[in-house]
Amino acid sequence: MIDLHSHVLPGLDDGPRDVAGTREILAAAREEGIERIAATPHVRDDHPTDPADMERLVDEANALAMDVEVLPGGELDLRYLQGLDDATLRRFGLGGNPSLLLVETPYVGWPLDLGDVVFGLAVRGFTVVLAHPERNPEVQERPDRLRDLVEAGVFVQLTAASVDGRLGRRPAAASKELLSAGLAHLIASDAHAPAVRAVGMQSAVDALDDEPLGRWLTHAVPAALLDGSPLPPRPERRRTMRLPWHR
Ligand SMILES: [Fe+2]
Repeated sequence: MIDLHSHVLPGLDDGPRDVAGTREILAAAREEGIERIAATPHVRDDHPTDPADMERLVDEANALAMDVEVLPGGELDLRYLQGLDDATLRRFGLGGNPSLLLVETPYVGWPLDLGDVVFGLAVRGFTVVLAHPERNPEVQERPDRLRDLVEAGVFVQLTAASVDGRLGRRPAAASKELLSAGLAHLIASDAHAPAVRAVGMQSAVDALDDEPLGRWLTHAVPAALLDGSPLPPRPERRRTMRLPWHR
């Protein structure tokens, strides 16, 4: 699996405080079958991450040789990113793809200018991956509000703990609706803490009960995004026909 959203770098944001914490998250990720993980520290007023610090700590995380490749990135605040120049944004490119940006969805309210910001970024050559919109109450109320953004080329990332219900009923229901409406493209951990459950990519895939779709969301799509290639076709939703004469 490829995890494109995590807070694994030590002492940078609200992720682990020290290298021991980084080590533990990476070990948990490896155990779940994650081969590549993008470090996406917050880039916002309360955690104004400097790209040079992120890059240095990514190198340090890789030097731990935990058998998980740590890729660069950043989780960019919608307002904060508007003050960053193209060169800086490219350094925060998700997983090392300089034209792909992970943008944090606010947890309250709905930014009415989100479409304009996305369009402005597209003009500058950037594609947006929207981080965990299923946690936003306005999206939970009306998941279809993401349709225009998706049609404009935005990719939608669901958080593993939303999909499998660890974050409660509403994010789980919104994840389900977004998935059935074709408005979600990838699952990522958004792991902050050194606990196996805080990664949970495999648990989210198990909750889907659809192995081909799970693989698309956790491997095929993130791999294509890293390469900058078109998304592979989404597998048909598996029909669960449990016939009584079959075991
Ligand atoms: Fe995050």
